[in-house]
Amino acid sequence: MISIHEIIEKAFEKRCNLAHDEIAFLLSLDSPAEVKLLRDAARSLKRRYFSDLVSIRGIIELGNICSKDCYYCGIRKSNSNVERYRLNVDDIVRMAGTNAALGYKSLVLQGGEIESDANTRFIEETLAALAEFDFGITLSLGEQTEDVYRRWKDAGASRYLLRIETSNRSLYSELHPASCDWERRTGCLASLVRCGYQTGTGTMSSLPGQSIDDMARDIAFFDEAGAVMIGMGPYLPHPDTPLAVRDSVPAAVKLERALNMIAVTRLYLHDVNIASTTALEALAPDGRERGVLAGANVVMPNVTDIERRGSYRLYAGKPGIDETSLAAKERLDASLAAIGERINYADRGDSPRAYGRH
Ligand code: 5AD
Repeated sequence: MISIHEIIEKAFEKRCNLAHDEIAFLLSLDSPAEVKLLRDAARSLKRRYFSDLVSIRGIIELGNICSKDCYYCGIRKSNSNVERYRLNVDDIVRMAGTNAALGYKSLVLQGGEIESDANTRFIEETLAALAEFDFGITLSLGEQTEDVYRRWKDAGASRYLLRIETSNRSLYSELHPASCDWERRTGCLASLVRCGYQTGTGTMSSLPGQSIDDMARDIAFFDEAGAVMIGMGPYLPHPDTPLAVRDSVPAAVKLERALNMIAVTRLYLHDVNIASTTALEALAPDGRERGVLAGANVVMPNVTDIERRGSYRLYAGKPGIDETSLAAKERLDASLAAIGERINYADRGDSPRAYGRH
């Protein structure tokens, strides 16, 4: 077996330069000294492509009405304990104004999955109303037909995030009802790439029944899917979901695994955007900063009105549900400065990888 130093050196040479066993070996590191080597290497690669900048995307949670019944998700269709809501265009424009006032140049519109003509038109109208802001806009609205993806692209969206959740098909079918089809989801990712979106995907780590080999294959999958943006996070149980009873990994282990996923994804994919997600902050108050220290270069603060945030709870312990967007920005500015990073206020922070493709 070659040493950790040699594997890291090999990863630095060029993207996608690691074999499955090497990816799995790096993911499984758990001694403090080796973990530090791994994450410092990933961070220095982050700096090669993004210097000391972290790009921001404000998230607006458009609504929690969802046609899907994923066994892990708090807003699944069958959860009757959720008060369902849906923002209107005026609300969204107002929240986008908050995003602009904070100096953020990109916006994510995220919501439960709805496939209907009315919803397709609603998103088109929303995108038209947001044109004045000149944001980089990411949509995260689930599986749709290629025609719908194209219409939303024409209406002004430039990025789309659709997590595959797990690249292991049989694990996917254990975590979802039969109506959710892994093949359709990968087909959607291919449609997004064809439509010219900066396409993002990602997975959850520490899922019940998931192995290190599965997570290693997730990382190879990201490249095969043509992803230029990655959003990953630890699985966190939600008490009103069927999967909550199968949660077995201790929180401290989940955090370390999720951080190793970020670091190894950076070492494998080099110049893609990688988000340090909110779920990390649910596990540790400094979780997002630790994600950046492990190689992430994007943070996605919530700019949804505070009154709505409690209803968009995908897992228990969602952080920041009562913090104003301004307070969150000030906290983020300070905590990033403390680790030697700066918020990128200058541009949208597109993935450099995207320029080679589109
Ligand atoms: N724990 C962590 N992440 C979750 N998501 C949904 N439910 C959970 C959970 N219980 C993630 C999924 C989805 C994204 C919007 O939120 O990966 O794609």
